[in-house]
Amino acid sequence: SACFAVLPAAGSGSRFGAQHAKQYALLDGQTVMAHTVQRLLSVPEITDIAVVLAAHDQLAERVIAGLPVCRVIGGAERMDSVLAGLLALTDAHDDDWVLVHDIARPLVRPDDIRRLLTACADDPVGGLLAHAVRDTIKRTQPVAQGQVADSRCVAQTIPRDELMHALTPQLFRYGLLRDALLAARADGVVVTDEAAAMERLGHSPRLVTGARDNLKITYADDLALAEFYLAQQRA
Ligand code: CTP
Ligand code: MG
Repeated sequence: SACFAVLPAAGSGSRFGAQHAKQYALLDGQTVMAHTVQRLLSVPEITDIAVVLAAHDQLAERVIAGLPVCRVIGGAERMDSVLAGLLALTDAHDDDWVLVHDIARPLVRPDDIRRLLTACADDPVGGLLAHAVRDTIKRTQPVAQGQVADSRCVAQTIPRDELMHALTPQLFRYGLLRDALLAARADGVVVTDEAAAMERLGHSPRLVTGARDNLKITYADDLALAEFYLAQQRA
């Protein structure tokens, strides 16, 4: 079965807090978007790539001009953008694969993408890259309205060996993912990753360990960390 890719890039980067969305920040002289697209393009198993953009985006054209990717207009939530990308892939069949990868993760290793593809090859559903949690994680007691974050109390400690950070790419059968996102939308549920949409329907996506340097640029200081990881990857 063929492998397609959807790169959601229609976010505004409000937490990053720059004039332009974070996918246009420069990482070693190139936009975050350019890094991410190039890494996906370097995986030969991927046949078609859809980049999902905000309707008013005026910067993408210069970044992806001449690259073999198609452009799609996204929606209000990440899940709306991913669904728009999926529906634009009109050549995809239900049992083909689709990789969904945040445009804001420019350091994904092509080798990790291929390990994900290999690990899921015989799976009816799919899976995602993830890495083990290092810190002990506490569940908090419900936050009362108006309560400041620093006044919360612990409700529970979650056994650390049960926890992993969900990364992207996330890889699913095209038809299952499309239907799972349509179902979430119909139910009024906002999922923050593709796996959560699949889990709602009772599927158990595979967790494939990926490198920790596949960070998502979220806040401005993540860019400095990405510069460091990029230099380390090249060393
Ligand atoms: N994304 C998208 N469409 C949306 C929201 C997000 O395509 N409506 C994309 C972002 O461009 C990003 C990825 O989903 O590549 C992960 O989202 P996030 O890190 O939350 O990015 P932003 O939504 O842009 O940032 P923020 O939440 O700080 O505004
Ligand atoms: Mg967001």
